[in-house]
Amino acid sequence: MESIEKVRKILLDKVYDSDSPREVLRSKELRGLYGLIKTLPVEERSSFGQKINGIKQEIEKAILEREEVLNTVSLPPIDITAPMDINAPQPELLPSDRGTIHPLSREIDRISDIFNRMGFVMEESREIDDQFHMFESLNFPKGHPARDDYDTFMTVETDKDGDRLIAPAHTSTMQNRVLVKYRDNLAKGEAIAAIVPDRVFRNEDLDARHEHTFYQVEGVYVAKGVNVGNLIATLQEFLQEYYGKKLYVRVNPFYFPFTEPSFEFALSCPFCEGKNPDCKVCSGEGWIELLGCGMIHPKVLEAADIDPNEYTGFAFGCGIDRLVMMKYGIEDVRHFESGRLDFLEQF
Ligand code: PHE
Repeated sequence: MESIEKVRKILLDKVYDSDSPREVLRSKELRGLYGLIKTLPVEERSSFGQKINGIKQEIEKAILEREEVLNTVSLPPIDITAPMDINAPQPELLPSDRGTIHPLSREIDRISDIFNRMGFVMEESREIDDQFHMFESLNFPKGHPARDDYDTFMTVETDKDGDRLIAPAHTSTMQNRVLVKYRDNLAKGEAIAAIVPDRVFRNEDLDARHEHTFYQVEGVYVAKGVNVGNLIATLQEFLQEYYGKKLYVRVNPFYFPFTEPSFEFALSCPFCEGKNPDCKVCSGEGWIELLGCGMIHPKVLEAADIDPNEYTGFAFGCGIDRLVMMKYGIEDVRHFESGRLDFLEQF
């Protein structure tokens, strides 16, 4: 009996000390009291049980009182503008506590910065778009076989024209918008010069080189008398600036409906510079296929009300993930979207 009295006091003190007094109801002391019942001779159990119930009721009453006090307590307001005490001891932070900028975000900033210095403005793409911007405005009429080259995700619902919406499979979906938005530059004797670094989506089987979600940077440049030489020089200049070294480029003919002529652009391997037959980055070939580009097709200019007899331009679309993988020797593109801290913390 004496020990019951002791426990009762301990529990009530706990209630009056606690910021979450309800937890006392689940405490091991109280459960211990109930556990005692079955150890007693049968005839004593009932009166002992009543005693414990009495204690429990007392505790419940005390909890209500304590909660009342807690609810009316006024804590001093926190002044978030107060100067920090720089001499106060700081907890030691791990890199993971501090957080880091995602490597792709950081590289996109660097890429944009280089193009800004070359006079390109930046535009954003979107994560859902229509067939006009994905195909028609880019000279893929309905039924064009090259539409199938893009493993495009589409919605089940259709828009007012009965077409499904799409998750953009390349940043070229922004070409028409950029041309229309900056068209007035041309009459003023200025160029249209824009980049669009953003996310794209393809219904691909995933492996170390393929992701369903990745990044491209689109470039669009239109003015009077623009030619293939301007295209190659711009890309070479950008890539050398990005990798911080002299690089050689190789330009092979290719096909896109929205550029003519079209090219596939390869870069001398910035890792081994063609000197290591066992190089993992270029598989010992010395060259890396990096991007598609070409001179903007007259029909694409016409779709944006720009006279192709007066103005010409180039466009390119470069995979950012691949660019960054080559810079840091990252062997698997899936790391980027994996959320793996051991990968992300290295940047
Ligand atoms: N959009 C093309 C692709 O993703 C690349 C490209 C962009 C080609 C601009 C030419 C001009 O494959």
